Amino acid sequence: MQRFILAAATVAGLATALPAAAQFQKPEDAVKYRQSAMFVIGQHFSRVGAMVQGKAPYDAAAAAANIEVVASLAKLPFAGFVEGTSSTEKGKAKAAIWSDRAKFDSGAKAMQDAMVKLVAATKSNSLDTLKPAFGEVGKTCKGCHDDFRNQ
Ligand code: HEC
Repeated sequence: MQRFILAAATVAGLATALPAAAQFQKPEDAVKYRQSAMFVIGQHFSRVGAMVQGKAPYDAAAAAANIEVVASLAKLPFAGFVEGTSSTEKGKAKAAIWSDRAKFDSGAKAMQDAMVKLVAATKSNSLDTLKPAFGEVGKTCKGCHDDFRNQ
């Protein structure tokens, strides 16, 4: 009974900290969840990437709106990297995520920290200010993909 209460309290604590992770019915759902969140992030991030690279005209309002979407989703994918989902079909996540979780988590944090600066940069209405801040976030995406995602 004691143990049960303790376990229930622990689960309740986790549920507060990670509402999404606690709710997946099956491992495939966690994989789909993180990929979907990354996919949406990628869509909006690359629209701004096109502006930064001069492939699309710079539109300060559109850049700010796209980055706002990316920033508000920046934590979501990481709730989907739950234990036991490394070898789930189609997933590109490397097993190293779970064996070197601290490094993976710090990569996620680096992205979120750089994102705060990028959001601020979009408010400058200046492409010259946006470019380096975009580049800093881009580096964190690539860094983590190089280490933790199968190509
Ligand atoms: C800390 C690690 C990490 C960071 C930071 C990160 N990603 Fe990912 N990303 C992953 C992993 C791992 C996968 C593969 C997930 C899977 O297949 O289960 C992935 C998958 C993706 C995908 C493919 C989604 C799909 O359709 O399956 C896109 C697009 C993507 N990331 C974009 C980004 C962008 C853009 C950023 C930066 C703004 C970023 N990621 C930051 C780890 C990261």
